[in-house]
Amino acid sequence: MMRYCSHTLLYFSFLLSFFFFTIWTVQSVPPQPPVRCDQTGCTVFNAYGTWPDRKTCHAANVTYPTTEDELRKAVAYAAEHHLKVKTVTRFSHTIPKLACPSGSDAMLISTSKYNSVIEIEPDRLTVTADSGVSLRELIDKVEGAGFSIGTSPYWEGVSIGGLISTGSHGSSWSGRGGSVHDHVVGISLVVPANSSEGFAKVVKLEEGRDDKLLDAVKVSLGVLGVISKVKLSIEKAFKRSMTYNFTSDVALEDIFMEHGKQFEFGDITWYPSRKTAVYRYDIRSPVNVSGNGVNDFTGFQSNPILISKGVRALEKALESSKNEKGKCTTADTTLAYKKLTGNGLKNNGLLFTGYPVIGRQGKIQCSGSCLYSSSIRIDVACAWDPRYNGLSFYETTAIFTVARFRDFLLDVKKLRDLEPERLCGIDIYNGILIRFIKGSSAYLGQTEDSVVVDFNYYRADDELTPRLNEDVMEEMEQMAFVKHGAKPHWGKNRKVGFFGVKQKCGPNFDKFLEVKNKLDPTKMFSSEWSDEILFGIEGPKYDGCALEGNCVCSEDRHCSPSKGYFCRQGLVYTQARVCRYSPAQVQVT
Ligand SMILES: Cc1cc2nc3c(=O)[nH]c(=O)nc-3n(C[C@H](O)[C@H](O)[C@H](O)COP(=O)(O)OP(=O)(O)OC[C@H]3O[C@@H](n4cnc5c(N)ncnc54)[C@H](O)[C@@H]3O)c2cc1C
Ligand SMILES: *[C@@H]1O[C@H](CO)[C@@H](O)[C@H](O)[C@H]1NC(C)=O
Ligand SMILES: *[C@@H]1O[C@H](CO)[C@@H](O)[C@H](O)[C@H]1NC(C)=O
Ligand SMILES: *[C@@H]1O[C@H](CO)[C@@H](O)[C@H](O)[C@H]1NC(C)=O
Ligand SMILES: *[C@@H]1O[C@H](CO)[C@@H](O)[C@H](O)[C@H]1NC(C)=O
Repeated sequence: MMRYCSHTLLYFSFLLSFFFFTIWTVQSVPPQPPVRCDQTGCTVFNAYGTWPDRKTCHAANVTYPTTEDELRKAVAYAAEHHLKVKTVTRFSHTIPKLACPSGSDAMLISTSKYNSVIEIEPDRLTVTADSGVSLRELIDKVEGAGFSIGTSPYWEGVSIGGLISTGSHGSSWSGRGGSVHDHVVGISLVVPANSSEGFAKVVKLEEGRDDKLLDAVKVSLGVLGVISKVKLSIEKAFKRSMTYNFTSDVALEDIFMEHGKQFEFGDITWYPSRKTAVYRYDIRSPVNVSGNGVNDFTGFQSNPILISKGVRALEKALESSKNEKGKCTTADTTLAYKKLTGNGLKNNGLLFTGYPVIGRQGKIQCSGSCLYSSSIRIDVACAWDPRYNGLSFYETTAIFTVARFRDFLLDVKKLRDLEPERLCGIDIYNGILIRFIKGSSAYLGQTEDSVVVDFNYYRADDELTPRLNEDVMEEMEQMAFVKHGAKPHWGKNRKVGFFGVKQKCGPNFDKFLEVKNKLDPTKMFSSEWSDEILFGIEGPKYDGCALEGNCVCSEDRHCSPSKGYFCRQGLVYTQARVCRYSPAQVQVT
């Protein structure tokens, strides 16, 4: 009990200093560049540090084109020399190993210096950007010219080429909808060609003229070629007016649909263990309404490195002592802090003073203040920066048809009602984020209007360490992807999320492959890693494979018998196979 109290105190003091630091502008350490080379070649790193893992992610060479012609020449060089290629960005924020090349003679093409051109056509209401342009640069340029981009992911540390490649989205069932690829009206793609064409060529695709190719290329995981330019539809600048309603989760299953329809940019954050739903009432307002609000989402703010380390240390301590109550207290404190600070909304760009917060689309749609640096005084960084032993978590992102989502929600409520404390580990992060996206013509997108669910949970420092109540997270994961047939977000998820994805995409998957064979017949842009994800390939099972989400357990050894975790059936979804802690059966091995 003493230990538990002192942890709580510790956490309060963290929060206090956190609060203090965020009022005073501080200095941030920007993330490390994701490609690092030495004499033996280059390695691609993920921004979260989730890979390279045991199997590394190596290439012989990296090139940094700055113009379309240099980009074309880089692809030509690789095609002529029969090299495998992966496109990498300045950010590398995708969780699955899509950007990992096969074979040590592979070549990396980085778009991190291919970011100088952003062209706005005011009459046609379009913007065309080099694929390496960051989301923030793009938005600022468009807003500066008096326009807005209708949607984007909530996190701004991504490139325009990278974000459409994985099907990234915000939340909206209105207009063109919440997925950025549904705002794409043109793409230039660099693909291999024959020698008389100079080994590579630029294919220019336009909406209305090349719809079939565009439907393949819009969401293409980097396996069709290198996207050179992305053309998006834009609209006259607008503002948004938003309010968070922290309330009970009673009848969430009946409210969500109306909520999605009623609020153009609505979403819902559900904290199941706290029986709390946070409804985001978020609608557009005319640009001349007063308000200079900013959405500086708490989770994407800079954290003093000491605090990230402290929070991680606390979470680890709660894990190793299997302290559910401590996790619930942390979840309570975190939720109270979010309510108090409006989740990072700032009415005047500085402080949260009350609802509604009204601001420009470009300041409300996405954020990422932890990305930026100035002169160093106090070291701060993004909370998950792998250099500082900060947060480390898994992320499950499942996309449901509207009809199935309600049943999923009711299943999770049943699971929660058995013992709500078991879900506190999710609520420490961001609970279950519920967003709305429209049906899309993109072959690897959603064929009908859908609901997207995101949740994060603790990841141990090494992949063979089980986590507290991991059976609950695994049961939810299998409820989503197996029982309710949800599709995975291509840019998130553990490997189990992709099993069977090919079947879920139906005939559109074959249409995608047809285009792939046509544009890249030698599979120059594929690797064993991207194939694993695209085709949802289940690798061989090994001891402990279920812990990391690389398999669904079918035998105890796929969990961690020596640590008391055995392969058991789900509590609500009894066909699920999950790793559950059963201390009476701990074996001495
Ligand atoms: C903190 C955080 C919050 C997030 N929030 C959201 C969210 O709200 N909504 C959402 O949908 N997603 C979200 N994501 C996921 C993120 O939007 C995607 O992972 C996105 O694809 C990352 O873009 P990137 O520029 O880092 O691309 P990378 O991760 O570097 O690359 C992604 C893939 O695209 C390929 N690629 C990149 N550029 C090109 C190009 N020019 N041509 C061809 N292929 C290319 C790469 O080879 C790779 O396969 C979030 C991620 C993080 C880290
Ligand atoms: C790396 O790629 C470039 C083409 O962009 C090429 O000119 C160079 O020779 C390559 N270097 C190695 C070591 O392969
Ligand atoms: C190269 O491709 C072009 C266009 O597809 C085609 O017309 C030409 O015949 C091809 N040349 C060779 C040598 O294959
Ligand atoms: C918050 O949401 C609940 C449940 O939908 C509703 O009853 C209540 O009126 C809302 N409060 C505000 C201030 O909108
Ligand atoms: C905003 O502009 C519209 C038309 O452009 C006008 O009718 C309205 O009165 C203006 N509102 C404010 C608050 O200035």
